[in-house]
Amino acid sequence: MVGYKFMGKAHSHAYRDVSFYFDNQVEPVLQAICGRDQAAVKEAAEKMGWLSYETDWRALIARDDIDLIDIVTPNSSHAEIAIAAAEAGKHVFCEKPLAMTFEQAKRMLAAVEKNNVLHMINHNYRFAPAVQFAKNLINSGRLGRIYHIRAIYLQDWIMDPQFPLVWRLSKEACGSGAHGDLAAHSIDLARFLVGEFKEVSGLMETFIKERPLVEGSSGLSGSASSSKTGPVHVDDASLFLARFENGAIGTFEATRFAGGNRNGNRFEINGEKGSVRWDMEKMNELDVYFHDDEVNVQGFRTISCTEEGHPFAAAYWPAGHIIGYEHTFINLVVELVKGLEKGESPAPNFVDGMKNQAVLEAVERSASLKRWVALSEIESKFS
Ligand SMILES: NC(=O)c1ccc[n+]([C@@H]2O[C@H](COP(=O)([O-])OP(=O)(O)OC[C@H]3O[C@@H](n4cnc5c(N)ncnc54)[C@H](O)[C@@H]3O)[C@@H](O)[C@H]2O)c1
Repeated sequence: MVGYKFMGKAHSHAYRDVSFYFDNQVEPVLQAICGRDQAAVKEAAEKMGWLSYETDWRALIARDDIDLIDIVTPNSSHAEIAIAAAEAGKHVFCEKPLAMTFEQAKRMLAAVEKNNVLHMINHNYRFAPAVQFAKNLINSGRLGRIYHIRAIYLQDWIMDPQFPLVWRLSKEACGSGAHGDLAAHSIDLARFLVGEFKEVSGLMETFIKERPLVEGSSGLSGSASSSKTGPVHVDDASLFLARFENGAIGTFEATRFAGGNRNGNRFEINGEKGSVRWDMEKMNELDVYFHDDEVNVQGFRTISCTEEGHPFAAAYWPAGHIIGYEHTFINLVVELVKGLEKGESPAPNFVDGMKNQAVLEAVERSASLKRWVALSEIESKFS
């Protein structure tokens, strides 16, 4: 694993727990992690249970006792590490967004395919049991034709203008702001639940254009260095409208300026026979509405997706004994190890990562040109 902070902790925990809860044939061995600071990476290895460490990812990839490279570093490094790993014959598991651009994502997919290695991307929210249950309801036709998806991903951790220019606010390190960080998740959920995007119309805004330079940062925290400041080149908020290939329409809003919302990843889907709505901060629950209920009792009902028949529930606890954020990673890692068992790239993989990147890029292009952009415009540019 390259990187070992926020996502490093989530992935390490999932590797350690997956065989405790699930019966998989392939068992992850936490062979080595990599970070640039020797003392810090050594400490992280000891704390999280990794057997060894490296201080250069190239040395990690060169080792012949490693089969899978897991990339949990800032976005700007994903492509270089993933392509080098694939060329060394390693399977690749990469954090989202897959890349900085659609063109880069396409090269990453080409590299894993050419070198015949397995690949996966970490869109963990798909693996909340309630989201999988929503998918089952949609697939079985319980909602009928899908008309709408309304997806929002609201955070508020950078509202203070004195919050420093951490890597998530640096265009060189992450490509875009709330857009690639948060909208990428909503796009994945929409592709998973509704279908492929056809065209988009976007709007992006940066409210705070200058911030203090950073001293240190990790995950969603950071400290400012001095009175020196630098310009912010990424969006604080990104909004867009979408049409899907199947005729559904959608609205999307991703922002880090929605005061009071810590991790407000939510969606509502309306179909001809019913609706579902989900809120990450109450992730075990799915609100469901069925139009064929007797009219006097019609209304949203809240289902606790913890019954034995609900997705993943049998692996954990009795009904009503809820699971949390870290379990979305465990549930995803089950698919990863099953993919390794079968020799197949599980979903979501680099194909999904690339399609996601096309939507991200289409919205950015739309916002800068102030017009609708078809996904085919982005895809044909590099075909
Ligand atoms: N799936 C999710 O829900 C989710 C949540 C948060 C972050 N992410 C993604 O995970 C990735 C990492 O984010 P994070 O929040 O864990 O960041 P973080 O700042 O907490 O950790 C980044 C890690 O990468 C290391 N690093 C940076 N450059 C490196 C290099 N060249 N070589 C080796 N190590 C290097 C840092 O030392 C640190 O350990 C990003 O792509 C982000 O978009 C995904």
